Amino acid sequence: MKERLNEIEKEALKEIEETQDRKSLESLRIRYLGRKGLLTQILRGLKDLPEEERPSIGQKANQLKTRLSSFLQKRLDEIQKREEVSVGEELFDVTLPGKQFPVGYKHPLTQVEEEIVEIFRGMGFQVEEGPEIETEYYNFEALNTPKDHPARDLQDTFYLDLPPDEKGEYLLRTHTSPVQIRVMERQKPPLRIIAPGSCYRADAFDASHSPYFSQVEGLYVDEGVTFGELKGTLEVFAQEMFGRGVKVRFTPHYFPFTEPSAELAISCVICQGQGCRTCGGAGWLELLGCGMVHPAVFEKVGYDPEKYTGYAFGMGIERIAMIKYRINDIRLFYENDMRFLEQF
Ligand code: PHE
Repeated sequence: MKERLNEIEKEALKEIEETQDRKSLESLRIRYLGRKGLLTQILRGLKDLPEEERPSIGQKANQLKTRLSSFLQKRLDEIQKREEVSVGEELFDVTLPGKQFPVGYKHPLTQVEEEIVEIFRGMGFQVEEGPEIETEYYNFEALNTPKDHPARDLQDTFYLDLPPDEKGEYLLRTHTSPVQIRVMERQKPPLRIIAPGSCYRADAFDASHSPYFSQVEGLYVDEGVTFGELKGTLEVFAQEMFGRGVKVRFTPHYFPFTEPSAELAISCVICQGQGCRTCGGAGWLELLGCGMVHPAVFEKVGYDPEKYTGYAFGMGIERIAMIKYRINDIRLFYENDMRFLEQF
């Protein structure tokens, strides 16, 4: 064993001496002193030696380890010195790491939007977009929400100070549902689309409301589309988004443009349905609105409601993100505080 150590010493010193660059120096270090290196193996194998040999071999191996380390360091210093190139008067080390530029990340809402879109794309939905400046016709009228309809009061709308055209006053869309109308006007069934985008409501700006927010709309129209398919699709979505263990619940609701209408809730992601502060003790978190497209909507776009059926859904991206990341104040998304944004 002593001889083996002497051999290693001779060989190592020679190799270190002959090395011309950092990379091969590093591989030498690994070869001798690394976790699986020659010396490390010998030190590990001490326990298998006869008892009387252990102290002397151990001592020698340790001395050699120290010797090799300092030799490696010395050689590294020499190589480094050589690499310092002089440019004019200035001496600088070309091997120093370059300037670090901070790397940006996507906004958490963008990340969640992309995640939602990817889940539905995987189920055959195509992405569509529509304008944020809409007319009364697309935002309300064509969605079976006439002027005197009570649902119109529910949505506090930002109207624009522009002369109205034949489609009514200009406004900032209060939901992404007008994209349903625009797509159906220019396409015949079957169609299966999702439409992400910004929406505006003249709401308070507090922990749970914002005058600006974003939604993802979904629409599927074909012959023989059923409520059962709506349920199945949204259940898959909820489980992809929040985990396989999540349960879904559909309860009756009202929207002018769907009949029947429903609200989808998921079992609370914090307490798994036991009841906690986040779900207000209910065990369920409301997630989105949905339903079967109202025949009156099909008539507006010239689809035969006797021939076609379809389902639609709409969800707030902020709400999904708040549940997913357990965020309790919607304003955090818009304040651009790096301490918040850097966590995503
Ligand atoms: N547009 C509705 C809202 O903003 C959501 C919805 C979309 C409901 C599609 C049913 C069908 O609340």
